Amino acid sequence: MVKVAVVTGSNKGIGFSTVKGLLQRFDGAVFLTSRDDGRGKAAVAKLNALGLYPEYHQLDVTDRDSVARFRDSVREKYGGIDILVNNAAICDCADMLHLSYEESKNIIDINYFSLFIIQEYLYPLVRNNGRILNISSKYGHLCNVRNEYWIKRLSNKHLTVNDINDFVNWHLDAVKNGTFNRADFAEEGALAAYRVAKVAVSALTFIQQQELYGRNISVNCMHPGLVRTDMTKGVGFLDADQAAETPLYLVLDAPASIKGAYVWYDKRVLDWYDHKADWYFESISFSQ
Ligand SMILES: NC(=O)c1ccc[n+]([C@@H]2O[C@H](COP(=O)([O-])OP(=O)(O)OC[C@H]3O[C@@H](n4cnc5c(N)ncnc54)[C@H](OP(=O)(O)O)[C@@H]3O)[C@@H](O)[C@H]2O)c1
Repeated sequence: MVKVAVVTGSNKGIGFSTVKGLLQRFDGAVFLTSRDDGRGKAAVAKLNALGLYPEYHQLDVTDRDSVARFRDSVREKYGGIDILVNNAAICDCADMLHLSYEESKNIIDINYFSLFIIQEYLYPLVRNNGRILNISSKYGHLCNVRNEYWIKRLSNKHLTVNDINDFVNWHLDAVKNGTFNRADFAEEGALAAYRVAKVAVSALTFIQQQELYGRNISVNCMHPGLVRTDMTKGVGFLDADQAAETPLYLVLDAPASIKGAYVWYDKRVLDWYDHKADWYFESISFSQ
């Protein structure tokens, strides 16, 4: 049986470097996927020039038909998936302090709601003992939320998907109605929709882990660091290859006992529920 690894949004950035690292270290087929065929094939050509040969498939994580086509192709050729890295995301906005409803919705649809499409179509293919990694962010830690009601509700150990979706929709409604309050989030609510989406990704990770625990599938989320990619317009203290080291560790090397964890870029498991942890994020993230 050939083992299979899949990385979403892997035509560039951290996803591309994760595919590169998997091709160097993982004994199996590695899928580079992209929403745009041309960009995906150009990325494959770059790897080919290095003597690395990924499988390629178009995959737009927000498009059910695209995800279904990918699912059918993998199932037919390989029968299952062993490693799945949910990496695809955007942070597109004209002004990080004033996101429009459309910008907020687009960020939340791609970064968070897409995970339900992936879960529906691809998780049934993930084999027992497999590993799923959701790329979150430092903005995906609970300390980004300052609204007491939501801190309490999201901290509930019996959290449900409805709770998370209510949180996300509460934010979208606030942006739409003009009632968005910056004080509900850290750092004056800058990039609020991205924070909401990534907090939701982290919280969903813990629920997905509970659902897949019985098959010994690990589902973790992580912050890759501030990384010099197109998303940050080249700002960061790590390059994409360096930032891929922790995702690679989590899907290839980490003990299987790491389950349902929020992992920092230096491989440390952090307490996601420590909602007062902002001092840590400020001092660590921007000083390196
Ligand atoms: N860079 C950082 O400092 C940083 C920090 C914290 C977390 N992260 C997270 O790390 C991950 C990778 O980010 P990055 O910095 O490598 O960003 P990036 O260079 O902008 O790459 C993002 C990738 O996602 C793809 N994508 C966007 N929408 C998609 C969709 N609907 N379907 C499939 N693919 C889609 C993009 O494809 P296109 O080329 O077609 O746009 C691109 O390949 C993201 O989850 C991001 O939120 C990054």
